[in-house]
Amino acid sequence: MGAAAVEEPYPHFVRDGVFSDQTRADMHRNWPGKGYFYAEIPGNYVCNLSLLPGSFYWQNFLAHEVPNVIFGTLGVFAPYIKARYPGETQFETYVCALMQSSGNYGGHDVHNHHYHDPTFVATILIYLDTVQTGHHGTTLLRTKPGMDEARCAAKTLMWHDLTEEHRTVEYRPGRIFAFYDNAIAYHEVRPSAPGALFGRRIFRLHVRTDPSHCERLYGVDYETYQKKRRFPSEDPQVLAWMRKDIEEMRSSPKLTLDERAAWLNSISVHIGHMPVEEPGEQAIA
Ligand SMILES: [Fe+2]
Repeated sequence: MGAAAVEEPYPHFVRDGVFSDQTRADMHRNWPGKGYFYAEIPGNYVCNLSLLPGSFYWQNFLAHEVPNVIFGTLGVFAPYIKARYPGETQFETYVCALMQSSGNYGGHDVHNHHYHDPTFVATILIYLDTVQTGHHGTTLLRTKPGMDEARCAAKTLMWHDLTEEHRTVEYRPGRIFAFYDNAIAYHEVRPSAPGALFGRRIFRLHVRTDPSHCERLYGVDYETYQKKRRFPSEDPQVLAWMRKDIEEMRSSPKLTLDERAAWLNSISVHIGHMPVEEPGEQAIA
């Protein structure tokens, strides 16, 4: 579990050496053929591990490698999750997938996941390729200085001109980049460099909790929240949601290592759930 999250511009962490060299070599050796991947956004392809129920290797991977990654990550973000979902003990993976990109991958513009699913609690990306492929990692962005954070957060998918780069997590094999999903968790992927190879292999997953929390958090059901967030908004209700979410994230009480461990011991994560269809813009990094 280790250290606490880096808090700026939003809770996240980056670490190297995730998965042993042997595990990563095995992942590459068992990497599914292109036919198992579907196009998510142009140039980027996803293989949901739930689509490989007959693969002993990947089912074993889900059972023995993935829990360590999930619980290690949730332990880092425990203060925020516990504060937002007091008493909640049930979580699930929303997407648990392998990704790869074509050489001319055009990147993915600034987005977050909060506007289409405010009950995501963590996004995890682990970079896998063993050689430099010309692809970028993920860029974290923050609200431009002088702008109202809540008003910016409410401007769904207009964030390209409202945010600026905070840092770019370079693509490096065995590196994990994970963040606590929230209203200002802006990120993007820059277009790949000319001559980039087919690759940019990534293990990706999202963890979320029950969407029924929307009613407690926002006073509306999940579908109504999604409808109100689908487009840029100046609706006072949406602005109030964003302001509250940002303030509550920043004021989440700190937890000691023991408190984080106790919270981890109280929760369970169902691994392998696969959505039939994602609403709106796809979640990806
Ligand atoms: Fe994303």
